[in-house]
Amino acid sequence: MTPAIEVRGLRYRYPDGTEALREVTLSLAPGECVGLLGANGSGKSTLLLHLNGILPERAGAESAVRINGLPVTAGNVEAVRRQVGVLFQDPDDQLFCGTVADDVAFGPQQLGLAAAVVDERVRSALARVGLTGYERRTPHHLSQGEKRRVCLAGVLAYEPSILVLDEPTSGLDPRGRREFKKLLREVAATKLIASHDLELVVELCPRSILLDGGRVVADGPTVALLSNEELMLAHGLERPHILQHLHPHPSYALKPRTNGTASREAEADFFRRIG
Ligand SMILES: Nc1ncnc2c1ncn2[C@@H]1O[C@H](COP(=O)(O)OP(=O)(O)OP(=O)(O)O)[C@@H](O)[C@H]1O
Ligand SMILES: [Mg+2]
Repeated sequence: MTPAIEVRGLRYRYPDGTEALREVTLSLAPGECVGLLGANGSGKSTLLLHLNGILPERAGAESAVRINGLPVTAGNVEAVRRQVGVLFQDPDDQLFCGTVADDVAFGPQQLGLAAAVVDERVRSALARVGLTGYERRTPHHLSQGEKRRVCLAGVLAYEPSILVLDEPTSGLDPRGRREFKKLLREVAATKLIASHDLELVVELCPRSILLDGGRVVADGPTVALLSNEELMLAHGLERPHILQHLHPHPSYALKPRTNGTASREAEADFFRRIG
């Protein structure tokens, strides 16, 4: 099956010389929900910005990233963006219209949908994120959590087959987090979620990928990864509280739980990486 997201040997250096991605190889099967973990500066956001062609600024013909088999090149970027919805880490990077309704409508309008369909998508997306009644508000005057919800509505409104979310729960209150998790469970897209919210990752993502210094240092079942205290501490993270009292049976830890999509190869790779 063609992977939804395929990254092979991706490297990226920012214009000031910072080497943000040194060698990233990963693959997500359609429908998978995968956590992207790593300490500050490990390269999560930089990686995510490559998945819909925001980086590099000028994609070459030979891209290291493929979306549903399509290389992310300058010529393909529009087609890729129809398939990949990215929620930026900073909502202020995402919101640019004068009203909430216009911001949420932007994606569906780009798809060329009829005005009535766009209106319905906006109404439904705002309802899903709990912002009915906010249509005429100015995005930049909203609270951080409200801004994040508007961004999420904007991404949901054009129904991408792949959702790429960068710190989606940061700034959300407890009810907002709970509703957001419920919402994500209901969305049938392939999802890659970068987050320091390890409880969210445990609850939503059967598989996780750990980055450090622009490299993938582990890729496997979330519970096995996060339960490995040595691995977590070595890469600037810690075992989350939610797992403190969980002692997975060894055979449980051995079984990748990636929606049944993990291959033998992925399993072997996981154990090679985490030793
Ligand atoms: N615009 C930029 N110019 C130069 N270096 C950058 C730029 N953006 C990020 N970096 C650097 O690239 C590396 C990876 O940063 P990135 O933002 O991808 O990390 P991250 O894993 O998302 O971190 P966080 O958990 O803090 O969000 C870091 O060393 C960072 O300082
Ligand atoms: Mg980041």
